[in-house]
Amino acid sequence: MTRTNDLDSMPEDSPHTAIARASRALSGCVRVPGDKSISHRALMLGAMAVGTTRARGLLEGEDVLATAAALRRMGVGIARDDDGAWRIDGVGVGGLHAPDDVLDLGNSGTAARLLCGLLAGHDFTAILTGDDSLRARPMGRVIAPLAEMGVQTTARDGDRMPLSLTGTADLLPIEYVLPIASAQVKSAILLAGLHAPGRTSVVEPAATRDHTERMLAHMGAKLEIADTPEGRRVTVTGQPELHPTDIEIPADPSSAAFPVVAAAIVAGSDVTLPSVGMNQARIGLFDTLAEMGAHITRYNRPDVVGEPVADLRVRAGVLKGVVVPPERAPSMIDEYPVLAAAAACADGTTVFEGVSELRVKESDRLAAVEAGLVDCGVAVWTEEDRMVIQGCAGPPRGGAQIAANLDHRIAMSFLVLGLATQDPVTVDNIRTVETSFPRFIETMAGLGADIAAAETNPTS
Ligand code: S3P
Repeated sequence: MTRTNDLDSMPEDSPHTAIARASRALSGCVRVPGDKSISHRALMLGAMAVGTTRARGLLEGEDVLATAAALRRMGVGIARDDDGAWRIDGVGVGGLHAPDDVLDLGNSGTAARLLCGLLAGHDFTAILTGDDSLRARPMGRVIAPLAEMGVQTTARDGDRMPLSLTGTADLLPIEYVLPIASAQVKSAILLAGLHAPGRTSVVEPAATRDHTERMLAHMGAKLEIADTPEGRRVTVTGQPELHPTDIEIPADPSSAAFPVVAAAIVAGSDVTLPSVGMNQARIGLFDTLAEMGAHITRYNRPDVVGEPVADLRVRAGVLKGVVVPPERAPSMIDEYPVLAAAAACADGTTVFEGVSELRVKESDRLAAVEAGLVDCGVAVWTEEDRMVIQGCAGPPRGGAQIAANLDHRIAMSFLVLGLATQDPVTVDNIRTVETSFPRFIETMAGLGADIAAAETNPTS
């Protein structure tokens, strides 16, 4: 028996507001949801394989379900079996059908950017859009390299969505040097390169998450990786036959970040998180927290689909402020908002350097973190591409009402901060958390965190 309607069953009735209060020591063991980046790639690369891929531990959050819905609209069979594994009936490289409606990618930048790459080698037009947050995000970063390969696009002013993209079966292989460190742009070019004859290369000045490369290699694509004076060059040979495979998806280190920081800032906590992805390009937060004084122990497990995995044990420590250097940014780009919660409680000043990319995430995260921390009584300021936070050397005042603004990580970060503030922190519009961390409140409450959802108030 197979359920096929999961893609349409997003919860519409979740409460809009949640309150976090100062908590006693957190303890226990909880599994956080599957890795969002790897889940998107499992669906997209499974779709390009010839035959059926099975993915276990797929993140069943709205972002990933949006990718699944888009692929289904283009002829890929995707269903969840009763045992919880997802089946993807691949159509082969270049085998998608023209969609008969607009592809709505919801809140997901990864879905939007990677799909542009996947669509590039298809001789049809697709229109992509998303929610208010996604439609405000820049798409020029993928449009530019894809245009060099022969793709035609028409976008709204400022290269924003909705955008119409017409691919071509005669894609040109290119070599492209990334102007910004972006795994999404790198992956879009590699996915386009799968469809081009010959070798397509991307050179990245700073190493970003390499899940696409690892999964492509696992599925039989020819990949070459070289260190060059300009940076790491990844080359894919186009038009391979990708082999379907069983994919075990580790828990998402970016979701683990929330209980990890909560355990680091709530005195006496001792928390374990099993099977967390430990890709070197994703774990900058854990290194930074350890530098600040949290106790993090890693128990390695065998790799899955070429990805390192470990159980993490986190115990609270006396935290001190640190300088987070710019070269660490790609390995923790999504974790700065929750690190800001730790910095607010630490003794001394924490500086985030080289973080201008935070301005173009699900919201302007520098502005959102600054505004929220100020409301919680924390001294903070931003200067160009740096943020400076003066820690309170103990519980910040709190007592703020935070607007999540369609940004799941802002919502969860301030709820984590509220576990260590003097007065409760309230977060509005917490429904956005469903994009990446279904059952966030229940998971945190399972560790003893005092977080509660308030009743739905349709007028708020
Ligand atoms: C992602 C890459 C990052 C990250 C995003 C997921 C990915 O974005 O912020 O949440 O899965 O490739 P950029 O590549 O734009 O930095």
